[in-house]
Amino acid sequence: MTRSFAIKSFGCQMNVYDAERMGEALAASGLSESGDDKADIIVLNTCHIREKAAEKLYHEVGRIAARAREEGRPKPVVAVTGCVAQAEGAEILKRTGSVDLVVGPQAYHRLPELLEAQAAGVRDIVDLDMPAVPKFEHLPERRRRAPSAFLTVQEGCDKFCAFCVVPYTRGAEASRPLSAILAEAEKLADGGALEITLLGQNVNAWADGASGFGELVRAVAAIPGVERVRYTTSHPRDVTPEMIRAHAEIPELMPYLHLPVQSGSDRVLQAMNRKHDRAFYLDLIRQFRDVRPDLAITSDFIVGFPGETDADFEDSISLAHGVGYAQAFSFKYSPRIGTPAAEREDQLSEEVKSERLQRLQDAIGASALAFNQRSVGLVCEVLIERRGRRADQWIGKSPWLQSVVVTDPQLTMGDMVQVELVAAGPNSLEGRLLTRKTAAQW
Ligand code: 5AD
Ligand code: SF4
Repeated sequence: MTRSFAIKSFGCQMNVYDAERMGEALAASGLSESGDDKADIIVLNTCHIREKAAEKLYHEVGRIAARAREEGRPKPVVAVTGCVAQAEGAEILKRTGSVDLVVGPQAYHRLPELLEAQAAGVRDIVDLDMPAVPKFEHLPERRRRAPSAFLTVQEGCDKFCAFCVVPYTRGAEASRPLSAILAEAEKLADGGALEITLLGQNVNAWADGASGFGELVRAVAAIPGVERVRYTTSHPRDVTPEMIRAHAEIPELMPYLHLPVQSGSDRVLQAMNRKHDRAFYLDLIRQFRDVRPDLAITSDFIVGFPGETDADFEDSISLAHGVGYAQAFSFKYSPRIGTPAAEREDQLSEEVKSERLQRLQDAIGASALAFNQRSVGLVCEVLIERRGRRADQWIGKSPWLQSVVVTDPQLTMGDMVQVELVAAGPNSLEGRLLTRKTAAQW
């Protein structure tokens, strides 16, 4: 009987993408995908960015082992992949007897052979290699069929923000070659993807020889079938005039920009080693809006970074008000072992962090609602991605990445429809169907 596998993924969109590619590699090696815990092999694709990541992992591993015991099944083979695997390594095998393999984010193309070795009796497998020949060259071709797809074009980070584990878990900045990216994008478009989201920890640092990020976006947008291009996440320091121009010139490039600022205070930005100040960031926003006035801008914020004063925090609130974000994520600072900020003695109390988080989230919520309310009355295209809760209800994305609910018995996933936005809440809008532009093709 063929062995079955299930993958559970935590964290960012790149982890979602990695999980898809692991799934494709395992399927190509003859395993069958199963949706649940009863699979013979369970892959936990972990995230290390904020607290309790390791605790969450051990809890999950314990649950898997306990469930198998209760049901009288042998314990599934458990593989831990992703950023906790890279950060904790063999420590994971020491902490729990229930994990069989630990494989880092740059080594997961080897998962099929490592699982074979495990089945042949090799124990305590740890592969944290960051090989010179990247994993992408060893992975099978994309098979995913979906209206919207992720595509990793750049990975890793050389910025070393004082709070962040990514340079340690994902390694140094590396770009995939243009030709490999285009081949993958064509494959995804053949599978019916109308929308492609280019992923990278510093996606706009992407380069291949003389080609920069703007050229990449242009080339992906030119692929037949690709109607929408998005990208995430950008670093302010890597924004180029070419990237700003891309928003003016490429119709397929959606009017959406995720440009994390982390803090509105110059003092904190410097302590975070962000390599830019508030004025530099605000000037970039102005330049983007000059070429694309309707751009939806989103951000990430950290509150309670070591040494952050009330006045520093007020600078974050005022920056959020000033920009008028369409949406933003905000997090309490979480000390990560091995990062410079974790060593500082001026850590703030949980209470202060919680209070600040609440205030910032209220401000962002109000700004998101205002952005959505300003959209009411607009006519736009929506790419239908999933069913809503009620009968005949469908949910898709506007060009500005807002969730739009459309009710119609004729629709299906993958349709591109034209709607009028008729009502707005903080997290979604309602759209009235005008026409179905193209029917699902996947
Ligand atoms: N504590 C809290 N938030 C963090 N982020 C990254 N590292 C930390 C940390 N140590 C947030 C940043 C980043 C997002 C992906 O996660 O805001 O942009
Ligand atoms: Fe989490 Fe960052 Fe790793 Fe993504 S890259 S899984 S956000 S630690």
